[in-house]
Amino acid sequence: MNFKKELAAILFELLDQEITAAELELMIEKPKNSAHGDLAFPCFTLAKLKRKSPNLIAQELSEKIQSPTFEKVEVVGAYLNIFLNKKLVSEQLISSIFEQKGHFGAQEFGNGGNVPIDMSSPNIAKPFSMGHLRSTVIGNSIALILEKCGYKPIRINHLGDWGTQFGKLITAYKLWGDSEKVKQNPIKELLALYIKFHDMVESDPSLEDQGRSWFKRLEDGDEEALTLWQWFRDESLKEFSRIYELMNVQFDSYAGEAFYNDKMDRIVKLLEEKQLLVESDQAMVVELAEEQLPPCLIKKSDGATLYATRDLAAAHYRKENYDFVQSLYVVGHEQSLHFKQLIAVLGKMGYEWAEKMVHVPFGMMLKDGKKMSTRKGKVVLLEEVLNESISMARHNIEEKNPNLANKDAVSKQVGVGAVIFHDLKNNRMNDIEFSLEEMLRFEGETGPYVQYTFARACSILRKANWQADLHPKNYTNSWEKEWKVASLLMEFAPAIKRSCENFDPSQVAKYIVDLAQAFNKYYAEVKILEESSEREARLALVYSVTVVLKEGLRLLGIEAPQEM
Ligand code: ARG
Repeated sequence: MNFKKELAAILFELLDQEITAAELELMIEKPKNSAHGDLAFPCFTLAKLKRKSPNLIAQELSEKIQSPTFEKVEVVGAYLNIFLNKKLVSEQLISSIFEQKGHFGAQEFGNGGNVPIDMSSPNIAKPFSMGHLRSTVIGNSIALILEKCGYKPIRINHLGDWGTQFGKLITAYKLWGDSEKVKQNPIKELLALYIKFHDMVESDPSLEDQGRSWFKRLEDGDEEALTLWQWFRDESLKEFSRIYELMNVQFDSYAGEAFYNDKMDRIVKLLEEKQLLVESDQAMVVELAEEQLPPCLIKKSDGATLYATRDLAAAHYRKENYDFVQSLYVVGHEQSLHFKQLIAVLGKMGYEWAEKMVHVPFGMMLKDGKKMSTRKGKVVLLEEVLNESISMARHNIEEKNPNLANKDAVSKQVGVGAVIFHDLKNNRMNDIEFSLEEMLRFEGETGPYVQYTFARACSILRKANWQADLHPKNYTNSWEKEWKVASLLMEFAPAIKRSCENFDPSQVAKYIVDLAQAFNKYYAEVKILEESSEREARLALVYSVTVVLKEGLRLLGIEAPQEM
């Protein structure tokens, strides 16, 4: 269904110029106004090559283009406006959706290449923040979209599970901790202990030394320290897992910062061998002045390694283990400098694959215009947010459709879907305002709106007793009224491709809102179920819309209930 390609091939045949079909394809536009045709081709570039007036070239070409696909060619100045044969093209489209079902829109340009995606990556013993939510949702959708384009995504949860804070936490736990309380409410308790440590240290600075010495014991493999750390990690993961389960996100690896403890020496040695490591204020750094970046700190004066050291080891590990074609880091834009430094250091080490590493940043989640953060003690618990969204969705369902079966399952699909869609519908760099009321609206650009449109289309098919395996071929209609919806269905694959290339799920999110709107308009104008010779074609279109809406939602990590 790539009409640009098809047109480019025809133009190429007609032109016999030193211009390739691929170049021609890039020149083909899509007119904003459908009255100007489905495709447009400006002749200015050709005019230069041929030393002829562009209007003349347009005129000549228009007389020569002959193809069943392109029904009509109009010349407007230097432009060719080209109209597709609605009937032929729509029927081809419908039959490819019938055949491919959920695979419709799939592409192969990823060629099976591995793409590790560093995503979510919360810090253990700390609450899961809105930034971690965004990373989880954006990363998961990018993974699904890459997979649809033929890549092999590898979801990696680079847990923040190492660092001096664990020495402090162990100190606090030994002094004031209660194992029962921690078991019941791990993150809340551990966070409280951590905060208490910081409160107490002001009057008792010796706590700082105790913290340091516990961290040293941890780094030296002391059994008691390790057992406590392992327990904190396990309990934290249990809590995070509940959130991942709610959101239906799975990881291929939980190799976090601690995983690289024994893999950093090698990196430090390599840096030494390559004479990149220099001393500065007793610490070891890599100078990045040539790159116009501040130096990257590799080892502190006491020999402790840092976040960046772990990320250097992780990047090597990922290259060696996954031989990636690209390696993504879905992390908030406040860490941009860190990733610039990371990539610059690897570049200095001579690794070309450093160029394949991409920081995929995103904006902040705001509440009333301010950053939604985990302030001392007052924690915005993500699980609570999700559960609240689910119960609001349930409330809406009770009002609109009190007799619905599986209300629990549907409320979860709608409540969680609303939060995810709200996150993904904007270009990821935008800051977004958090508002449950806004997310859960049934109108406008929301997840529930798209889900509701899907459910409505399913209900039409149910009422008609229509089944996908009936594959009618002799449609009698002209596809005029259906054209807006049909031509949008053809835009699914390009929208997926744009999302994939820009690591930006909002292209798919906006696309499915457009499709849902066009479909609802069609639904309002055309009596789909009315007996007529066109009924079969209309139902085939409705079915096609269900396939694409469902798959579009799936690519965002959102489920599509048949009824709601
Ligand atoms: N744990 C970090 C944080 O919460 C994010 C880690 C991102 N991934 C990475 N490879 N540095 O800020």
